[in-house]
Amino acid sequence: MIDLCFSLAVIMLLEICLTLVLGMVVYLFLTRKRDETLPIEEGWWGKGQKSDSQEDVTIQPFQVETSEAELIDLFRRLDQARFTEPLEDSRFQYGFNSTYLKKIVSYWRNQFDWKKQVEVLNMYSQFKTKIEGIDVHFIHVKPPRLPEGHSAKPLLMVHGWPGSVYEFYKIIPLLTDPANHGLSDEHTFEVICPSIPGYGFSEAPHKKGFNSVSAACIFYKLMLRLGFNEFYAQGGDWGWLICTNLAQIAPKHVKGLHLNMVSVTNIGVTQLLSGLLGRYFPGLFGFQTEDIRRLFPFLEKIVYRTLQESGYAHIQATKPDTVGCGLNDSPVGLAAYILEKFSTWTDHGFRDLEDGGLERKYNMDDLLTNVMIYWVTGCMVSAMRFYKENLGKGIGTQKHEKLPVTVPTGVASCPHEILHTPQSWAQKKYINIVSFNFMPRGGHFAAFEEPELLAADIQQFVGKVEKDQFWRAKGK
Ligand SMILES: *[C@@H]1O[C@H](CO)[C@@H](O)[C@H](O)[C@H]1NC(C)=O
Repeated sequence: MIDLCFSLAVIMLLEICLTLVLGMVVYLFLTRKRDETLPIEEGWWGKGQKSDSQEDVTIQPFQVETSEAELIDLFRRLDQARFTEPLEDSRFQYGFNSTYLKKIVSYWRNQFDWKKQVEVLNMYSQFKTKIEGIDVHFIHVKPPRLPEGHSAKPLLMVHGWPGSVYEFYKIIPLLTDPANHGLSDEHTFEVICPSIPGYGFSEAPHKKGFNSVSAACIFYKLMLRLGFNEFYAQGGDWGWLICTNLAQIAPKHVKGLHLNMVSVTNIGVTQLLSGLLGRYFPGLFGFQTEDIRRLFPFLEKIVYRTLQESGYAHIQATKPDTVGCGLNDSPVGLAAYILEKFSTWTDHGFRDLEDGGLERKYNMDDLLTNVMIYWVTGCMVSAMRFYKENLGKGIGTQKHEKLPVTVPTGVASCPHEILHTPQSWAQKKYINIVSFNFMPRGGHFAAFEEPELLAADIQQFVGKVEKDQFWRAKGK
């Protein structure tokens, strides 16, 4: 027994030493790379050969349109849908419960008003402009009014999969016109929400290799084209990575980076060690009580959950075009595939509800509008390919994964995010975190689900960054 205790103590000591040494290595590694930026890539993603003529850099107004033919085709497919009965008492544990799916399809067919939703989509001004050979769609909303002496702060907001710019429709007015929504108007934003190429109304890349860095380069060029030399960037899901890469490409242009999801890939060993020991030595790993609550039991909350919930990512990172055939051909299949994520990623516990809890946080019109954006643009395959381009070569293989992020960073950490990342992990990559807040509510789709909470967090983050900047400028 004493022997056992002694060996355990030795093992623990060794593990602690190992952590310290690794910590040092990571620290040295990061300080060495601190000033390195990610090179900007000159991509070209258009069809066929690149022509020698100058790219058309004009910005064209855009509106979503629909037609009778589009609806007739949709209704025909909805009417002919074939369902498989769910297993008894299976809820959402095997994926989308098709009995509940039938209810959604009936609503979609008989009550959902796409023409009205198209009007909703067109309530903000939208544009398209050609960058690197493809048409990039974006929403651009300027503040309707500004307090005396204030200027609008440009804010780029980037969505992810299986979302769209529609995720931002409720948060946009809170940022562009905060005073009118009972919020502080200390900072008023001019918001730019582009569709990731291959998503929604942006053209899909025609060449292989379009990844998060390519998207970051395109959005950087978009912001410069719009005349924004300095701006804030905000994102979750792929928006997290695209905005992160943008901050690595152009740290002088990105005044602050606000994320409602963080993930770090450069600290595997630290993660593993803290998974084993963090509960017993929270201080050693810089964990707060809330981190412990969200991370442990580690096997259940991190390891098994990753295995249970990442099958989709594996498929999309390997053979997106195959499963994509079915999804792009069947609106019902598409809705099941997309909305299952809106259920589980909003709250993991929703897997145990018969209706996946979807209507607890969202209304059917909003959910189906996002599905319709995928349906009418036929973008599911190109949207899924983004996983292959980002993950297909393996995690940890890309340059941006090894470079730190130096711009001021704010994290809104939602309690139901798929995988929790403590500040102590995030800091290993984002070396200038100025705010890290545990949000009281919310999951993966923070802007869509909790627009007020997210808007308030963005406000306070920008406040901190601006104040720091003010004092730094004074000190000079
Ligand atoms: C599927 O959802 C329906 C409607 O919400 C519910 O009545 C049914 O019990 C659910 N089925 C399973 C197998 O969970």
